[in-house]
Amino acid sequence: MLMPDQPAAMTLRLPTLSLIFFLATAAHAEGPLAQFDPALSESMATAIRNADLDAGARYFDRKCSQCHDGDRNGENFTGPHLWNVFGRTAGTHTGFRYSAAMQGVGKIWTYATLDYYLTDTERAVPGREMNFVGIDETAERANLIAYLRTLSDAPPALP
Ligand code: HEC
Repeated sequence: MLMPDQPAAMTLRLPTLSLIFFLATAAHAEGPLAQFDPALSESMATAIRNADLDAGARYFDRKCSQCHDGDRNGENFTGPHLWNVFGRTAGTHTGFRYSAAMQGVGKIWTYATLDYYLTDTERAVPGREMNFVGIDETAERANLIAYLRTLSDAPPALP
């Protein structure tokens, strides 16, 4: 009953399927935030725990504050008000006109999503209207994210 070529076909098919699955998953890990949940790397978590908050504040002043207000009683201007950004669903701050791209993200800003976004903003939110490319350097990103955490009525636990 068993066709002689059946076992050979099976052994070929399984590796092919796993390869396709692997490639699909790998491609996913680089995709838009709307379609997957990035994980916070252990090295980034450590860098955030050991961050230099003053350096993060200076970075914010130099690179973010021309568009974003981070004060508790601040407001939206070029960019949305960033007080309480941790825990906010992307693109939902009252009174700010977000791009369709940002409104379509549908994810909460956490250590992992902010790290992913601030690494490469266009990769994370294709079509976003924030004119800032991203921050390559891990320590700089960690300092900034640790600083953003303090702009909150209830800062989340450190990672
Ligand atoms: C040139 C102006 C500009 C600069 C510089 C800028 N942003 Fe933005 N940012 C924006 C705009 C505009 C949006 C809304 C984007 C959209 O709707 O696509 C935004 C959105 C965001 C969001 C999403 C907030 C939400 O409510 O969902 C975060 C987080 C953010 N910016 C952080 C930063 C940080 C941190 C920096 C500094 C490293 C920075 N931005 C630099 C203009 C800017």
